[in-house]
Amino acid sequence: MTIQQNIQQIRAKFPGLQKQHDGRPAIFFDGPAGTQVPQQVIDAFSDYFTRCNANHGGDFLTSRENDQWIDRAHRAFAQFVGADDPGEIIFGQNMTSLTFAFSRALATTWNAGDEIVVTRLDHDANVTPWVLAAEDAGVTVRYVEFEQENYTLDLDSLRAAVNEKTRLVAIGAASNATGGVNPVKQITEIAHAVGALVYVDAVHYGPHGLIDVVDWDCDFLACSAYKFFGPHLGILWGRRELLESLTAYKVRPAEDDLPGKWMTGTQSFESIAAGLACVDYICQLSHPDVEVTPENRRQLLQQSYEMILEYEQHMTAHMLDRFAQIDGIKVYGITDTENLAHRFSTFSITHSHIPTTQLSKILCDAGVFVWRGHYYALQFTETLGLEPEGMIRIGLVHYNSIAEIDSMMDVLHSALAST
Ligand SMILES: Cc1ncc(COP(=O)(O)O)c(C=O)c1O
Repeated sequence: MTIQQNIQQIRAKFPGLQKQHDGRPAIFFDGPAGTQVPQQVIDAFSDYFTRCNANHGGDFLTSRENDQWIDRAHRAFAQFVGADDPGEIIFGQNMTSLTFAFSRALATTWNAGDEIVVTRLDHDANVTPWVLAAEDAGVTVRYVEFEQENYTLDLDSLRAAVNEKTRLVAIGAASNATGGVNPVKQITEIAHAVGALVYVDAVHYGPHGLIDVVDWDCDFLACSAYKFFGPHLGILWGRRELLESLTAYKVRPAEDDLPGKWMTGTQSFESIAAGLACVDYICQLSHPDVEVTPENRRQLLQQSYEMILEYEQHMTAHMLDRFAQIDGIKVYGITDTENLAHRFSTFSITHSHIPTTQLSKILCDAGVFVWRGHYYALQFTETLGLEPEGMIRIGLVHYNSIAEIDSMMDVLHSALAST
């Protein structure tokens, strides 16, 4: 059964989606800032506290059970990113904190005269940690531009920025501003050709597409479970040999082995447990009655993401068609419905004569939960001269529907008719 055929049953799994706004169902188009969670994630969170709330590494039963649960989560997230070594999965508070900590460690390997590359399309969490680390290490930062037609990453600019001195290329797998999907594999080829490492921000990719660190051939990748139907939890994957050889900033008693070496302090074990449940929720989208095991998990993920992509592309095409019928709307991203393979269902818009702040208020007051501003893709809005108003972001995930898009369009049409 497709997601479209099954949408009511899928939505029923998310208690948060039952929220009413002024007597009508709220429309959750704020997914890129954090998705709602299914009941099984909420259950895992509370089960953790009921069954084995204990710190890591004790000899007693609850601590051992805690550790077993966390080990299972390491395995599940390794499979989630397409790796098979659970030791390569580092948990932390969120992607930003993990990237800050990791950038410090990586920067100790840089020398004056080295260069790093970041982009003007990325979320600031994949820009500023590297820029600050580069400042401390006396390393030059080069910026990759985006092209002005579809607002996708300009690969010529990337090629021009990468050279023999480049030590790191930090890129996003997908933009949280435009929904554009980057050719990560092609980018890693360009970076590796000069011996640079590649750090991928897959935070915006996670809810929409299957991450594959092996196919992409990247060196590090970070994502965040609260963007893909899970709890607030950051995940960092890195190649074992690199994670082993780099020096982590850590306290003396902390473990020297992977993954403990990189997991600073006491973790949010309840979030890690709930994170495992969110991976399994995604698996069961395609096979609701199948028990998820380490043996079938990756294959189920693959099939579920195929379903998600198909459904989201259907909504994207509808959204773009409807936007094309409204005078004055500008979409910052791919608008050609023949080119949907290169974008996800995230739309940033402005209107020619309704200020963004006003448009946001109209939509939010009508129960359409959209985001306004730069959503931390600050280089992007600054380059386009869109500060301080920014844009409106409408983010669709697989629990949204065509009916919700149409309701939003009704709100937009009546707002435009009365201005
Ligand atoms: C593309 C992207 N990268 C990074 C982040 C930062 O993630 P976190 O909130 O886990 O630090 C976000 C959050 O919005 C994001 O959308």
